[in-house]
Amino acid sequence: MTTLTEYLQSLQAQHAQVPSIEPITDVIDTIATVGKQITQLLRKGALADILGEAGAENVQGEQQKKLDVIANNLLLEALTANRHCSGVASEELDHATAGHQDGSLLVLFDPLDGSSNIDINMPTGTIFSLLPHPRLGEKIEDGDFLQKGSEQLAAGYLLYASSVILTFTLAPDLAQQVGIDDGVLMFSLDPDSGEFLLINKHIAIDTDTQEYAINGSNYRHWLPPMQQYIDELLAGKTGPRGKDFNTRWVAAMVGDVHRILCRGGIFIYPKDTKDPTKAGKLRLMYEANPMSLLIERAGGASTNALERIMDIEPNDIHQRVAVVLGSKNEVAHVQQRHQQ
Ligand code: AHG
Ligand code: MN
Ligand code: MN
Repeated sequence: MTTLTEYLQSLQAQHAQVPSIEPITDVIDTIATVGKQITQLLRKGALADILGEAGAENVQGEQQKKLDVIANNLLLEALTANRHCSGVASEELDHATAGHQDGSLLVLFDPLDGSSNIDINMPTGTIFSLLPHPRLGEKIEDGDFLQKGSEQLAAGYLLYASSVILTFTLAPDLAQQVGIDDGVLMFSLDPDSGEFLLINKHIAIDTDTQEYAINGSNYRHWLPPMQQYIDELLAGKTGPRGKDFNTRWVAAMVGDVHRILCRGGIFIYPKDTKDPTKAGKLRLMYEANPMSLLIERAGGASTNALERIMDIEPNDIHQRVAVVLGSKNEVAHVQQRHQQ
């Protein structure tokens, strides 16, 4: 089986044609290494004193868990030490942090996705997105990170579950230039050797589905088109859709997206009226954009119910967005309802 190291080396071998590929592979390697450290901590759980609250609030106004802080610090330390990384932005940090001034890459991450799952031994993850440094050689500022999702060079996640999976993809034009386009790739961490091994590539999401993920407890806060869409799914065979649907909700976006990459489906975290100042719960830069690149590269669709997520011009590194992603035809249903 191909190891992650071997795969990244095969990409690096193309650096003469595409010089930007070496930094990207090196940064992915760093993230994979931190993923193994987070895995070790999760395996020990309570024994490593990683459960419970950190006792502080992040810039999003959310209570941080101990592991949110630990994972953030591990990524921050490892990435700012990587000579290719000119700066990082994290869901858990107020502002971007500078790395190496000569680095060509900006790295954005949700260090620990699914924080409410940590203490109950359920799936969690890490999400990452790579952007080009727009002012090479200059010290980074928050504004450098405000690039559309379509500018991403690569994106991926680590899923910490019954097995540990690293999934990533290169931007389509970059993959073409490199001459190796394997679409979305999945590697599984072999606990015996400590290596990530390639288990799947060219992942393709079914265009139709009968499985949906949404936190239904927010129903009363949704806008009418979302309520109507879910009403139709709940009506099943006897309703206008003429088929039964099944619900799944991992409470960690990484888990839901992983399921959709494996067997299709739709994941929705809609805008709601709980806090009208927020466009949604999920973060555009750390969650929605990287997942959108993966989903689109696998033939799925990703929108905020009205427009393509990766076309949204960001105005704040911590901005939030409504998310509707997964099987193409199902996402189109949601979008049509909202356009009407
Ligand atoms: P995070 O743990 O990084 O704050 O993200 C949690 C997100 C997402 O992963 C998940 O789909 C959703 O919040 C869960 O929301 P509910 O608490 O509404 O289930
Ligand atoms: Mn998250
Ligand atoms: Mn998080």
